[in-house]
Amino acid sequence: MLSAALSLGLGLSLTAAGSPAFAAGPAPNGAQIYTRCAACHTATGRGVPGAFPPLGADFRSQATTPAGRRYLSLTVIKGLMGPLTVEGRTYRGMMPAQGGLDDAAVAAVLNHVGTVIARVGPPFRAFTPAEVAAARASGAKLTAADVAKLHP
Ligand code: HEC
Repeated sequence: MLSAALSLGLGLSLTAAGSPAFAAGPAPNGAQIYTRCAACHTATGRGVPGAFPPLGADFRSQATTPAGRRYLSLTVIKGLMGPLTVEGRTYRGMMPAQGGLDDAAVAAVLNHVGTVIARVGPPFRAFTPAEVAAARASGAKLTAADVAKLHP
């Protein structure tokens, strides 16, 4: 299942990287980008206990602080390698960096998660491409394991 998920992610990222639409065309579609996340986190974001964390209350609470928002952006950009505790469960997996997503695409998928997938938790404030760009620049040297240590 993991390898199927990985190849799905790769296929989509090649499509995205080969398309100039993200830079010049209409705003990226967060729901469409989320299909690659759903391969692991499931379509509803419920996740798979012990393997893929839910995108729910923890996501919404990270999104309330600057440090948490940087962590969420960098998780998508750099990937994530725990140990990591989400909603009381420990995860020791590896999320691959989600290649081929520019700043607007990362913001769009985080906003889709924050508004449509993660339905519980504190109020959600939208990400902007500029905010994602700042996280990308400040985290340029971090590894996926470093990003996991940023989980507040
Ligand atoms: C190949 C499987 C896979 C894909 C695809 C994937 N993830 Fe993940 N994700 C994981 C795993 C595994 C973890 C937990 C990492 C760990 O165990 O250290 C995780 C963790 C996360 C977390 C941290 C949750 C928290 O509360 O701290 C977020 C946020 C997240 N993923 C968002 C996304 C988004 C958004 C996408 C799509 C752009 C995505 N993931 C695609 C496997 C995946």
